Amino acid sequence: KMPSRVKIVDVGPRDGLQNEKQPVPAEVKIGLVHRLQDAGLKEIEVTSFVSPKWVPQMADAAEVMAGIQRKPGVRYSVLTPNMKGFEAALASRPDEIVVFAAASEAFSQRNINCSIAESIDRFAPVVAAAKAKGIYVRGAISCTVGCPYEGEIAPERVGMVARLLKQIGVQHIGVADTIGVGTPVKVQRAMEAALQHYSIDDISGHFHDTYGQALGNTLAALEMGVWQYDTSSAGLGGCPYAKGATGNVATEDVVYMLNGMGIETGIDLDKLIDAGKYISDFLQRKPNSRAATAILTK
Ligand code: HMG
Ligand code: MG
Repeated sequence: KMPSRVKIVDVGPRDGLQNEKQPVPAEVKIGLVHRLQDAGLKEIEVTSFVSPKWVPQMADAAEVMAGIQRKPGVRYSVLTPNMKGFEAALASRPDEIVVFAAASEAFSQRNINCSIAESIDRFAPVVAAAKAKGIYVRGAISCTVGCPYEGEIAPERVGMVARLLKQIGVQHIGVADTIGVGTPVKVQRAMEAALQHYSIDDISGHFHDTYGQALGNTLAALEMGVWQYDTSSAGLGGCPYAKGATGNVATEDVVYMLNGMGIETGIDLDKLIDAGKYISDFLQRKPNSRAATAILTK
């Protein structure tokens, strides 16, 4: 089942930077996107059209999208939690939008201020409007193995949310370990639940690395045939509504692992490390990637 090719979506500019305390100018975010596309990333999750009161770091969403010099063959995605966000995003011509649900009621309330059922009602018109414009729709499911407020999450909850997203026409789902508490077998159970409603080609893994499990979880999902992953340049990030959670698994570490396994990504690791170093230098910290650190100090 092991795939021979993997598609990586770098979510660093969005998931990575959304929780950053220091202001990051639009120009630096754009610089990161440019370096990622030069490194061979074929999809970049750029920003979120969310409430600036909730997530101030993403307030420059339109400016960032407008400043990108698009590269042919690269897809640019943005988060849109409701019609207001979708309408604002439209002018930016995203290739893909992301609606984000949760397998935990408490997390849904904290993150998007509504219940799971209400969130589906809000997403339905967004999905319909996007598809009418030919924009591809991804859905993210947060807290598929654990929740900062509810603890462990049963796979059935993941299956339920996947079914609801399928019903409203969401084309692809990301199974997210928001707080990085998952371990390989638990992640496989969550994936299996999602696979009851989506095919293997329409599912991706989104693993945060809080407990250092994300590479192991990625391998566990690879063994099931999952071939699409969200990762974050330099391991940036964390979710503002998941206290203490760290960034996604570093793109550099995943690419290093896949290179070693002979699995193709189309990404140039050296250029990718440069991209991670660019944003890490701006933030005045070391890249949160073991592979990048090892290669940079060689
Ligand atoms: P709300 O307060 O319930 O919304 O927030 P509302 O409809 O009642 O509106 C309240 C105010 O917000 C109004 O403004 C609206 O215009 C404004 P006011 O009249 O008070 O001046 N508003 C907006 N402004 C800009 N863009 C919008 C928008 N919508 C309403 N789209 C809302 C509901 C969803 C907007 C809010 O809770 C929110 O923005 N949440 C975003 C949370 C977020 O971005 N979280 C991080 C991303 S998800 C994530 O990281 C997880 C993921 O990585 C997977 C994983 O790891 O789990 C994807
Ligand atoms: Mg995330």
